[in-house]
Amino acid sequence: MQRLNKPDLSSARKRTKNQVNTIEYENFKNIKDIGKDKSYIIQTHGCQANEADTEVIRGLLEDQGFTPVSVLEEADLVVINTCAIRENAENKVFGELGRLKSFKRLNPNLIIAIAGCMPQEEAVVEKIMKKYSHVDIVFGTHNVNKFIEYLDYVIREKKQLIEVYSNEGEIIEHLPQARENRFKAWVNIMFGCDEFCTYCIVPYTRGKERSRKKEYIIEEIKELIKDGYKEVTLLGQNVNSYGLDFVEEKYDFADLLEDLAKLDIPRIKFTTSHPKDFSDSLIDVIAKYPNIMPFIHLPVQSGSNNILKRMNRKYTKEEYLDLVNRIYNRIPHVSLTTDIIVGFPGESETDFEETLDLVRKSRFEGAYTFIYSPRKGTPAATYKETVDPQVAKQRLYKLNDLINEGFLAGNKRFEKQVVKVLVEGYSKTNKGVLSGYTENNKLVNFSGPESLIGNIVDIYIEKAKTWSLDGKVVQ
Ligand code: SAH
Ligand code: SF4
Ligand code: F3S
Repeated sequence: MQRLNKPDLSSARKRTKNQVNTIEYENFKNIKDIGKDKSYIIQTHGCQANEADTEVIRGLLEDQGFTPVSVLEEADLVVINTCAIRENAENKVFGELGRLKSFKRLNPNLIIAIAGCMPQEEAVVEKIMKKYSHVDIVFGTHNVNKFIEYLDYVIREKKQLIEVYSNEGEIIEHLPQARENRFKAWVNIMFGCDEFCTYCIVPYTRGKERSRKKEYIIEEIKELIKDGYKEVTLLGQNVNSYGLDFVEEKYDFADLLEDLAKLDIPRIKFTTSHPKDFSDSLIDVIAKYPNIMPFIHLPVQSGSNNILKRMNRKYTKEEYLDLVNRIYNRIPHVSLTTDIIVGFPGESETDFEETLDLVRKSRFEGAYTFIYSPRKGTPAATYKETVDPQVAKQRLYKLNDLINEGFLAGNKRFEKQVVKVLVEGYSKTNKGVLSGYTENNKLVNFSGPESLIGNIVDIYIEKAKTWSLDGKVVQ
């Protein structure tokens, strides 16, 4: 092995007060066309932050002449963009790495690269070094911009390269991007997370919270409008704390959202909101502009004050319910969804009942629900009062039944109504049927001509099902 730079989680915990600098991306002047006549495939795990990073990786590769393929057998390069949020997410990747070993035996020139959040954990890097020596390149979330340099090295030297930084560098603007979708775009407005919820690995894998300057965000969205994009989703682990890291300027998420709503983009979405920073001025801006979608993903995690405290979520059940009510009062047609963890250490039956109670009162129209998974290096991983896995499973099933009722009720309220749908293409499960999402983020299936793809179309909803709506085009 030639190049080795391992991360460590205790350095990754460190936070500095200063505002992070912004620099422009510099092309690799002396590396050209290393992907000529070569093909690549990327697998993306995890959240939208990874989806957005994958588009940068694709951009970097395509600038070098690599062409995308859809099956592994045809690829000269495979990149796995990984997620570290729960153990099963990691196990999937290790399973895939095992499978790739036999591929590499058949094709020794195959280059395997691991990117994303898993390499930010030292234990993962150790495991790759010991057990998966067929992996050629390991890099993390803080050095995606250097991927081409690493590839060039591995192609020339034919040696393994492991290069992971524990901490973030500057914000890099104007990185190349090859976007997956022609109508909907991810737009990062900030990176990292400073919340340190006690169960969560993200503040370690993504570094300190840092906001992009508004000029760059506005410029990016103006370009997207020119290219015919209809929808942008603003991304951050906690978008509500956008701008709080600016030293000189006072400019927060409500200000940004308002400036963006004045642009000629039909749909603006954002994710994820932390309940503690959700201001009334933000609610007002969402209520005021019709191009800000009435859809808010507001992870609550638990309904028990005892557990919320141990999770370091910085709000109580009562404060959360008060926020939900303020949102419903100002934006009555809004759809709320959430994330919930069951089986957090110390969660009693009464704590769980509090969660069910909160779910009933919040009228969620969907949720991602998880069984707590200990992440090495986080405080909760050392908590002793673990919940029996069988009990946690039963709680998850019970919670999911309740969530599904809310899902159906949320869909039912659109029956016999006309909704606006951004048509994405033919449905994956039913060829010949078009599908797309409404302003409230409801999936709609309907039949219609191909020419509707990429347009926002009025659809009359005939039937609501638990996971989707069936409708027809309004003539
Ligand atoms: N920044 C976002 C998303 C974080 S990850 C937010 O704060 O909401 C997405 C979800 O994964 C979290 O909301 C949480 O519900 C879940 N999650 C995070 N760490 C977890 C863990 N250790 N075990 C189980 N679920 C976890
Ligand atoms: Fe994780 Fe909490 Fe940050 Fe979300 S806000 S990424 S759950 S630490
Ligand atoms: Fe996973 Fe990293 Fe996102 S851990 S959820 S891909 S920030």
